Amino acid sequence: MSAEQQSLDGLEEEARRALAEVTTLPALADVRARFLGKKSALSGVLRGIGRLEGADRARVGEQANLVKERIEALVSARRDELGRGERERALSETRLDVTLPGLRAPRGGLHPITRIERDVVAFFTGLGFGVEEGPEVETQWHNFEALNMPPDHPARDMQATFFVDGGHVLRTHTSPVQIRTMSGRTPPFRFIAPGRVYRCDRSPRHSPMFHQVECFMVDENVSFADLKGILYAFQRHMMGADVELRFRSSYFPFTEPSAELDYRCLICRGAGCATCSQSGWIEAGGCGMIHPVVLEHCGIDPERWQGFAFGMTLDRAAMLRWGIPNIHLLFDGDVRVLEQI
Ligand code: DAH
Repeated sequence: MSAEQQSLDGLEEEARRALAEVTTLPALADVRARFLGKKSALSGVLRGIGRLEGADRARVGEQANLVKERIEALVSARRDELGRGERERALSETRLDVTLPGLRAPRGGLHPITRIERDVVAFFTGLGFGVEEGPEVETQWHNFEALNMPPDHPARDMQATFFVDGGHVLRTHTSPVQIRTMSGRTPPFRFIAPGRVYRCDRSPRHSPMFHQVECFMVDENVSFADLKGILYAFQRHMMGADVELRFRSSYFPFTEPSAELDYRCLICRGAGCATCSQSGWIEAGGCGMIHPVVLEHCGIDPERWQGFAFGMTLDRAAMLRWGIPNIHLLFDGDVRVLEQI
């Protein structure tokens, strides 16, 4: 038996002993590196083979590879053993009580404004209205001029405006979508346009960002009676069949004649309470017959076509429907509020 053979046999024995003492997978990796790694005696023997004479070279090479295979097999058998042991320990340490009640996953819900908006869209699409959108950063022309509010018009002061740059504002209402939708279209048509609007205003009832829906319809024989009929049906849909409405004459630059629509306060039934500021009535929105100048700005002949328009705030409807006392509760993202809705 040659010296190499003896030392090779010895290596296998040594590895077997070392592996028997190993109790963890990291320690096993260390032992493997010691016997089979680049710096191991076995790798040294394999590297030296090239320097041996022909017959020795074949014999030692065969022996060394055999020992290498055997040690690999020992390592892998020990790895299986240790792995099995760790799995058994993990299983015996953790117990699963299948009789415990399950954990209920928290369920999300739609935001109150989204629900109101969908309700509005469902009502009007049912009547054949299309749904349009416009940009929230709007040109002053669409937000004011085209709606019959030239630069020096006092009505501009009614809407505390956020100015973006010389030509642009954050839209103060959804009415500019009327202009974008009507321009280049030939009547008859009817649309609604829900969306966010912005005004520099903050109080328990006012938020600098809130939501409106615009509604408008143009045809050859549209009259104020059509406006009233649709608004009555709409408010009954939103507020309940027994809602009581009144029209108050009003002024908007983009409608003539103009009116505001109120409904009898649903909380005090008209007796007067904090929600309706003791008046017994709550404003539902502004409306009127589209001003001929607005139609002209959109390239529509006011001699032939007439239309009505209506705009309302969605946030107010949400506050009333769910008894939310402060508009900011809608946007603070407090899930305790949203969970109650
Ligand atoms: N744009 C108006 C506002 O925000 C609301 C409004 C009034 C819209 C009358 C209309 C309308 O379409 O006809 O104050």
